[in-house]
Amino acid sequence: MAVDLLLGLQWGDEGKGKIVDVLTNNYNIIARFQGGPNAGHTLVFNGRKHVLHTIPSGIFHDEATNLVGNGVVIDPVIFKGELDKLAEQNVDYKNSLLISRKAHIILPTHRLLDAASEASKGKAKIGSTLKGIGPTYMDKTGRNGIRVGDLELANWKERYRTLADKHESMIAYYDVEIEYDLKELETEFFKAVEVLKSLKFIDSEEYIYQAQKSGKTILAEGAQGSLLDIDFGTYPFVTSSNTTAAGACTGLGVAPNQIGDVFGIFKAYTTRVGSGPFPTELFDEDGETMARVGNEFGATTGRPRRCGWLDLVALKYACQVNGVTQLMMMKGDVLSGFKTLKVCTSYKYKGNVIEHLPYNIEPENVEPIYSEFSGWNEDLTAMSETSQLPQALNHYIEFLEKELEIPITIVSVGPDRKQTIFRN
Ligand code: IMP
Repeated sequence: MAVDLLLGLQWGDEGKGKIVDVLTNNYNIIARFQGGPNAGHTLVFNGRKHVLHTIPSGIFHDEATNLVGNGVVIDPVIFKGELDKLAEQNVDYKNSLLISRKAHIILPTHRLLDAASEASKGKAKIGSTLKGIGPTYMDKTGRNGIRVGDLELANWKERYRTLADKHESMIAYYDVEIEYDLKELETEFFKAVEVLKSLKFIDSEEYIYQAQKSGKTILAEGAQGSLLDIDFGTYPFVTSSNTTAAGACTGLGVAPNQIGDVFGIFKAYTTRVGSGPFPTELFDEDGETMARVGNEFGATTGRPRRCGWLDLVALKYACQVNGVTQLMMMKGDVLSGFKTLKVCTSYKYKGNVIEHLPYNIEPENVEPIYSEFSGWNEDLTAMSETSQLPQALNHYIEFLEKELEIPITIVSVGPDRKQTIFRN
């Protein structure tokens, strides 16, 4: 069986967790392939909100197996926190959660290095979640990292010490003030590592291969969004992994010709948290309304998200680099009540009108050109069928489908599992 992918097409926070949860009934295995606790995947059901950071969003379904793939970076302390919350809710994760031996471990000093690096950048800071993601991937590509499989070796603590000592000298090099008590952080870390070690570690590429061969259905769950991809995002204001479809191949060991459907998730407008260019960003009442109605605060850091109109130029680009086969539009309900909606359909760039994403989308280079649409006033949150959707929203959806040449198969009208409309 081919492996289906589910990816965010903007700057993250599109609502991937909700849709994975909704789709899990169709899959035997849900697998995370990149990122780490910088992600915050929110699921709402039975009147309760759940936020997952590293654990795949299929974990609340008894029949699904959840795999943390080799491309993921794991902070044992945050991971333990997630497990504790699952245990409180009687989720039996022991048998349904598998971890790749090739996933890398985030050390306490990776987090400190992240903080030191950001502090040293001053105004040019990336706006990192400070979870140690960048430094951990740097150690991965620098071939210094500690992997989950290493935790099974007798000498892993010696390797830990060598790396942590090196990190401490690097922190000193940054010459910024960071207060920390490494002893305390390490006590917490080693305790959490023991909990991690009680889970099932596997050779995940072999597991995925055999699962495919035996006809199991697999959904690869992306984190962050395509515009935060280390290669194709708004560099340097990006995360440190490949958030696009190719990341699922390297982050799970799935061959490119084994990829099936690619589900692309986008919000009906755009948000971004952290620094970096955002051509359609709003600094007016419309932006404030989106932030308030959409409750636009980061699920991991609580930071307010920047809001703006939908950017079709960027969305087309994301569909292109990912090979999206189906689109899922989130938070359509947040746009109820706007008299007029705008969609950016091209950019003015160096005196020309262009319809592709150029190398540089800083405000001094790019000016968005908008098409306008009539809004709607109906409250969508109780709607469950396409026939109930307002005419103006249908028009908005059909315009996007025509421009992107990809069907929109799900329209989400609220955070709850149930607030999901399937379109044929
Ligand atoms: P890092 O991945 O923590 O290093 O953060 C790099 C950039 O990506 C920052 O602008 C973050 O705000 C952003 N970022 C990282 N993870 C997420 C996410 O899951 N959702 C939205 N933005 C994210």
